[in-house]
Parts: sequence; C-alpha cells; structure tokens
Amino acid sequence: MLELLYPLRTYLIVSGVEHPNVMTADWVIPLSFEPKLLGVSIGQKRYTNSLIKEFGEFVVSVPTIELLKEVWIAGSLSGAREDKLSKLGLTLVRSRKVRVPSIRECQANLECRVIKEVEVGDHTFFVGEIVDVSYGDAFRGGKADLSYRFIMHASFGKNFTTNSDEIFSP
Ligand SMILES: Cc1cc2nc3c(=O)[nH]c(=O)nc-3n(C[C@H](O)[C@H](O)[C@H](O)COP(=O)(O)O)c2cc1C
Repeated sequence: MLELLYPLRTYLIVSGVEHPNVMTADWVIPLSFEPKLLGVSIGQKRYTNSLIKEFGEFVVSVPTIELLKEVWIAGSLSGAREDKLSKLGLTLVRSRKVRVPSIRECQANLECRVIKEVEVGDHTFFVGEIVDVSYGDAFRGGKADLSYRFIMHASFGKNFTTNSDEIFSP
C-alpha cells in the first residue's frame, strides 16, 4: 500500500563512528523549522538502525543520479554482513558537528543528533535535530539548482527517475 506514496526522493544515511556505514533511504521527512528537525524511518533489521541507536547521531546525504550505482549498493547490501564501504565509490569526510562522517560526493550533508526515537511497527522513526549542514554547488544559490538531477525512487524495486527542471507557479 505504501507504494501509493511513490515516487519519493532517495537519500543516503551515514551512521557509525569508528566503522561508519552507509544505507539508502526513501523514508526521510522534514518535521520542523525551529528547532530544525527531520525524521528517518529505519527498519529494525537494518545495521544502520543499531548504529544510530548506539551513537545517537546520523547524517542525511543528498545524492545525484551520478551516484545511482552507489545508492543501489548501499540499499541492497548490509554493513552487518560485509564491508559495504569498500564496494562503494564514496569518500567519507569529517562532519562539522557530529562524529558520524559526511559524504564528499553528495550535494548536501545534514548532520543530525537524535532527540527522539519511536518504534513504529517494523521500523524505528528517528527524529534528528539538524546541528549543521554542508553543501555543494547544487545548493549554492540558497535553493536547489534543478539542473542537478536528484534521485527519485519511482516505485519499490530497481526503478529510479529524476526531477525535471520545469518550474510551475500557481
Ligand atoms: C532506493 C531504496 C530506498 C530504501 N529506503 C529505505 C528506508 O527508507 N528505510 C529502510 O529501513 N530501508 C530502506 N531501504 C533498504 C535499506 O537501504 C537496505 O536494507 C540496506 O541494505 C540496509 O543496510 P544496512 O543493513 O547496512 O543498514 C531502501 C533501499 C533502497 C534500494
């Protein structure tokens, strides 16, 4: 039934400190301007779920379509079973305020500290306070430059699309 909410934007979630992990997530949602809050819903079986619970921090990274292969790998392998990072062509760099790293190749990194976690069925909904951000050229003008192609998950499975650069004003 939840497929009826698609297409949804797709993000990468970084978690863990000494041995960081990256997973793909569609279920990411803005929650509040002040304080700045967002939510992510992470399955209880995901390795990422245990890492966020352990360290209380995560980073939401914004990929573009050039990173589709990485998005697919991060969303289909588990860091609990293998060294996922060595299979990803991604560079982890120091974040500004959290110990969890950011991803250099992504156009934005939102650094979050968990302020609340709620078990919701088979997922945990983590509410994160955004304590710092870094971003690349796609956001340099203060808003998204739509000549960059952000990734959207078209439906469950291996189907992705991107935004167009058409703008409609009501
Ligand atoms: C496009 C895409 C979106 C996904 N979105 C979510 C999501 O929002 N929440 C979730 O728990 N899993 C989601 N997944 C599944 C996880 O990314 C996947 O189970 C991953 O292997 C978990 O990695 P980990 O065990 O290393 O944390 C998604 C997978 C893909 C391919």
